[in-house]
Amino acid sequence: MTTAETGRAVGPGLDRVDAPLKVTGAALYPNDVSWPGMAHAALVRSTVAAGRVLDIDVAPARRAPGVLAAVTHLNAPRLARGPRPPMIGAPPAPLQDDRVLHHGQHLGIVVAESPEQARHAARLVRVEYEPAEAVLDLDDARAELLVDPWGLDTEHGDVDAGFARSDVVVEETYTTPDNTNNPLGLMTTVASWQGGLLTVQDSTQWPSNVRTTLAAVFGVPESRVRVLAPFVGGGFGAGLRVWSHVLLTVLAAREAGRPVKLVLTRPEMFTSVGHRPRTVQRVRVGATRDGTLVAVEHDSVAPVAMDDDNVEPVSHSSTFSYACRGIRTRDRQARLTVPSPGSMRAPAEAQGNFALETAIDEVAHALGMDPLAFRLHNHADDHPLLGLPWSSKALKECYRLGAERFGWSRRTPEPGSLRDGRDLVGYGVAGVCYPFIQFPCQARVSVLGDGSAHVRSAATDIGTGTYTVMTQLAAELLGLDVGRVRFDPGDSDLPYAPPAGGSGLTGALGNAVHAACRRLVRDFCDLVRDDAASPLLGAAPEEVAVAGGRLHRVGDPGRGESYADILARHGLAELGADGRSAPPRAEDLGMAPAGAFGAKFVEVRVDAELRLLRVARVVSVVDGGRILNEKTATSQIVGGTVGGIGQALFEDTVTDPVTGRIANATFGDYLVPVHADVPDMEVLFVGGPDRASATGTKGIGEIGLVGVAAAVGNAVFHATGRRVRSLPITVEQLLP
Ligand code: MOS
Repeated sequence: MTTAETGRAVGPGLDRVDAPLKVTGAALYPNDVSWPGMAHAALVRSTVAAGRVLDIDVAPARRAPGVLAAVTHLNAPRLARGPRPPMIGAPPAPLQDDRVLHHGQHLGIVVAESPEQARHAARLVRVEYEPAEAVLDLDDARAELLVDPWGLDTEHGDVDAGFARSDVVVEETYTTPDNTNNPLGLMTTVASWQGGLLTVQDSTQWPSNVRTTLAAVFGVPESRVRVLAPFVGGGFGAGLRVWSHVLLTVLAAREAGRPVKLVLTRPEMFTSVGHRPRTVQRVRVGATRDGTLVAVEHDSVAPVAMDDDNVEPVSHSSTFSYACRGIRTRDRQARLTVPSPGSMRAPAEAQGNFALETAIDEVAHALGMDPLAFRLHNHADDHPLLGLPWSSKALKECYRLGAERFGWSRRTPEPGSLRDGRDLVGYGVAGVCYPFIQFPCQARVSVLGDGSAHVRSAATDIGTGTYTVMTQLAAELLGLDVGRVRFDPGDSDLPYAPPAGGSGLTGALGNAVHAACRRLVRDFCDLVRDDAASPLLGAAPEEVAVAGGRLHRVGDPGRGESYADILARHGLAELGADGRSAPPRAEDLGMAPAGAFGAKFVEVRVDAELRLLRVARVVSVVDGGRILNEKTATSQIVGGTVGGIGQALFEDTVTDPVTGRIANATFGDYLVPVHADVPDMEVLFVGGPDRASATGTKGIGEIGLVGVAAAVGNAVFHATGRRVRSLPITVEQLLP
């Protein structure tokens, strides 16, 4: 039995199973954690962007009230660099030398009895610098340029011949600014060394990796490290890596001989836990007069921090987004003295899609074609590079249904031709082809003596709904009510799980839970097959179905017995099984494993005189394979769309061009959408179960954000005739 075989594309909109804990305050987020004897830490941060620390004097801090310890590079132990996991790399260990590589760099940590005492003492630390010149611009000739850092540059078909035979060529430069992840939960680490055992509660999206990293950095066996993250106050990618402040808190706890808690301040969040890096992208697109795309070239350059790595293959999705005979993509990174960039919801896709989907709109306009018709005409029925069918793809359905619900047919082609009173009205569309990203995963499922089930994995739920959908999945696979299933994640002692990231966890964990449940049902079958007392005597596993907390013969629900009865008769307190999943591979499948697909339809309104811009409507249609829970899935797309409006209109992390200081590192200065900026949003799901996944799911954690910026920009062009190629789109760019 596979759930995919049930063929149901949309699961019921079950309320979040963890909601009561959250709304009653019973769920412990990392910054709620308080352990006996716990002390508090504060960071000392660099006030220059580059150079050396000549001297750092902690004596005044040590004399301040309540201070227990102060660590700087002058007294820090050697720390190994953590392993570099795929996709996210690993930041360098802190306090290993006197170099300053960016403004806000952690130069020390101070521990005191109270958070206030720690912060006060940290301010007393005197740092003397030998400053050097900061390198802050992507086009600075002094910046080292990394060419094809991930080996993903692509040359497919004859690109130059394609351009040579193109009737229309659009070649433009698109820029996106730094954006900063701002989960509401300030990133927090609580660390304790007791009896040679290191216990850490952390705002992480990946407990298994925190454990592996801490073991390597501090030279202790993994079995002596336990990382807890049952609840995390949002992530958006900021919690994927084991950042410097996590290592410093663990170090401080060891130095102080006490449990230590560090809560980053909001300004520290802007320099300590990554951000979506700015990009400069050149896109060149060629098409023939009949509307056929014949050449696509996409070049990108984005920053990378000194001494660090971050993975942001901005142009990569352009290799599989459209049917095209000639495709060339190139990614570059420039080393700058800036805080480490990192993954932020839909890393690479958020920026790359803006450039590609704007350029596609420009070509359609140049051809005099409807931009939706142009996209449909160049739809990639097969994977363009692999030449294989997709494991699932309902992008055409996304376009068709979205156009219908949005009322695309009311769009008049000429820019500036749709008006409503003072408002210039614009309709824009963008397509989204999200990459398939998945990692191996494990889970353990047990049925207990009372017939209830317990599902465990080291994964986290960062607010996405993992608690709920894993509960639903196990309930369905075991034939139990959801109230009889408990999912316990967020503990690195549990079976290994990949990050809650890359839109990959529901697929990876769901398939591991699926494997564990199937094995468990088979184990129950084995238990009763030779059991003369069982109505299932002699039944082969494929002759057994599950429902209502019972195993019964297929087609004969009366002939069976409950899990609880089987366990009791066999004197077992519980029966458990492990499951694992691995990402499918195209060469095994004969198909290209598909990520989610989507279409965004946006209406904007621009005041004809004042040029004030509002997003008036968004219709999102997503092919996410089988949707396990329509309610939590819709929330993912709604939240992502709000993030996309932020990217389109507001978010812009400003770096002072002289000092390298982030100039707007507060919620007062860094703009994000507020309630009044968010219009009516409709979310629809299309498509069926994905053929490469036992559970039929595809990841939808990030696709909701992608395409919004391009669709907004394309709508602005339709409203005003003004093509904006630089985010965020501001009123200044729309003034005559
Ligand atoms: Mo997401 S940026 O992969 O946490």
